[in-house]
Amino acid sequence: MTAIRAGSTFMTLTLINTHLLRWLITVCLALLAANIASAAPSFKDDMAQRTLACTACHGSQGRAAPDGYYPRLAGKPAGYLYNQLVNFREGKRHYALMTQLIAPLTDAYLMEMAQHFSNLEVPYPAPEKSNASPAALARGQQLILKGEPARGIPACVQCHGSAMTGVAPNVPGLLGLPRDYLNAQLGAWKTGKRRAHAPDCMKAVVAVLSDEDINAASNYLVAQPLPANTRPAASAPPLALGQTAANCGSAPKP
Ligand code: HEC
Ligand code: HEC
Repeated sequence: MTAIRAGSTFMTLTLINTHLLRWLITVCLALLAANIASAAPSFKDDMAQRTLACTACHGSQGRAAPDGYYPRLAGKPAGYLYNQLVNFREGKRHYALMTQLIAPLTDAYLMEMAQHFSNLEVPYPAPEKSNASPAALARGQQLILKGEPARGIPACVQCHGSAMTGVAPNVPGLLGLPRDYLNAQLGAWKTGKRRAHAPDCMKAVVAVLSDEDINAASNYLVAQPLPANTRPAASAPPLALGQTAANCGSAPKP
């Protein structure tokens, strides 16, 4: 008798426990769902959120801030952006405030960020008004579109694409960049402060450019409107002089 009573008490307790457990699980799941639902609008863990530290300098969605030095990231070829992130990390380019942000990141993550910015299609700024003389602008146009074979200067479009919007995967476009940035980059290549992965095509290009050539090229570039299709070209135009972009160096992909 005692044994039977003890058995049924045990069964009752087990039943109560099972009910209690189900109820507790249901309550927990409901709370969890409510929590997720209310948290969703305020925090979305996507690339746009994770790159907010970058866009503080590079402008909303990487379209470049108006202060005239930060380069645009949006829409540039992914391979080019990735190569640059690796270049900063390897000391081939220098900007300490940015390098310390990317130093701890893996190659795969750098590539993810590069692809994120490359895929963004956001408007470009209007071209700058140039106060260069018509002769200087004509000189710039000549260099960019034709080069100067007698002095060993290749046409810039040969690698940067006939629309100057770059060539996938590794060559950047030349339009929509601040004049100060263009001059600084070409100058840095001349002094060896900026380097690309070997073979470093731009090192050879700037070696045959005078300061006047660089100025003329930058003045012409900043005054050009963007074409309707701003995406990088899929392949380089036919070779006129020197190397094509396919011969230029690139970091191994992660
Ligand atoms: C403190 C400002 C600042 C922050 C933050 C910053 N950058 Fe930069 N970034 C710069 C400047 C300035 C340059 C150009 C430096 C130079 O070569 O003179 C640059 C250059 C670059 C370039 C090369 C662009 C090109 O056209 O060659 C890439 C790519 C880039 N940054 C990506 C990033 C990413 C991704 C982040 C976030 C993880 C980031 N940056 C955060 C200021 C910043
Ligand atoms: C043989 C191919 C080749 C030719 C010709 C060439 N470039 Fe480049 N250029 C490149 C490559 C490749 C890069 C990217 C290098 C890197 O990974 O850092 C580049 C990068 C640049 C950049 C840096 C852009 C940025 O966003 O930081 C500028 C500016 C530039 N080139 C200007 C010129 C000008 C001006 C000419 C003509 C006088 C020219 N290039 C001719 C291959 C070429």
